[in-house]
Amino acid sequence: MIKKGIILSGGMGTRMSPLTKAVNKQLLPIYDKPLIFYPLSILMLAKIKDILIVVNRGQLNQYKKILPDGKRLGIKLNYVEQSKPKGLPDAFILGEKFIGKNKVALILGDNFFYGQNLSKKLIECTKINSGAKVLLHRVSNPEKYGVAKIKKNKIISIIEKPKKFISDLAITGLYFFDNKVIKFAKQLKPSARNELEITDLLKKYKKLNKLSADYIGRGGAWLDTGSLEDFYKTSTFVSAIENRQGFKIACLEEIALLNGWINKKKIKESIRFYGNCEYSSYLKKLI
Ligand code: TTP
Repeated sequence: MIKKGIILSGGMGTRMSPLTKAVNKQLLPIYDKPLIFYPLSILMLAKIKDILIVVNRGQLNQYKKILPDGKRLGIKLNYVEQSKPKGLPDAFILGEKFIGKNKVALILGDNFFYGQNLSKKLIECTKINSGAKVLLHRVSNPEKYGVAKIKKNKIISIIEKPKKFISDLAITGLYFFDNKVIKFAKQLKPSARNELEITDLLKKYKKLNKLSADYIGRGGAWLDTGSLEDFYKTSTFVSAIENRQGFKIACLEEIALLNGWINKKKIKESIRFYGNCEYSSYLKKLI
């Protein structure tokens, strides 16, 4: 079982400037909570309690205000600062000590996942023995993503933002790796855009025949919130579901309670922490 997870929560958020000039993208609201709650909830649904959050240099204090040490949620939150956005595999270099000899999951701070049976699938993914695993999702605009071509249930090629159609299966921002990921990340050379590329890292596993894939079916949603348009579409999606059902998506305390990691006393602590707001009213209903 993978017990450690990393959330990449830095980045410049250039596409969303000027909103992201003073505040990091992952601290901006997706409907009723900061964006980072969503990827964090995904790791928690995968029963991962030991989490490293990578943030931009100088932004640690802002993050700690909303997500201090995790105790209120029955989890352990660790932080590391990234001096500049060197690329996604930098997570494993910065996180070397945190990962130690363990396996690790990585989720991008701006990725949103939702759907029936998702928790079950996530827990399945944490069971990899060795190698790497990616989650694929069909998209209508594959030219915007890293995509995987599949033959007989195996990944036969991976291409970053393909100009010519090769597949419509996008590689989502949630990955599961064995401990070799640290060594492989260190071997990578920056690409033409001067970043370490996650596709290059995945190709190393593919070459060893150690890259597997799972799917988020059409009943599930994967949204990436990188552009302003996508950001607001995701907010609308969350608002539609929450207001229709009366359940919240990515309520961290609710997940912790259902996982048996916290008790009602801790929820009361959270209510005091957030103050008199709609989120607290929801927490009150849980107890
Ligand atoms: P990107 O979408 O590559 O970058 P960004 O979010 O900064 O946006 P833009 O392209 O508009 O400048 O990053 C994907 C996610 O990974 C995002 O949540 C930020 C995070 N990230 C880091 O934390 N460190 C990094 O070195 C990189 C490249 C991204």
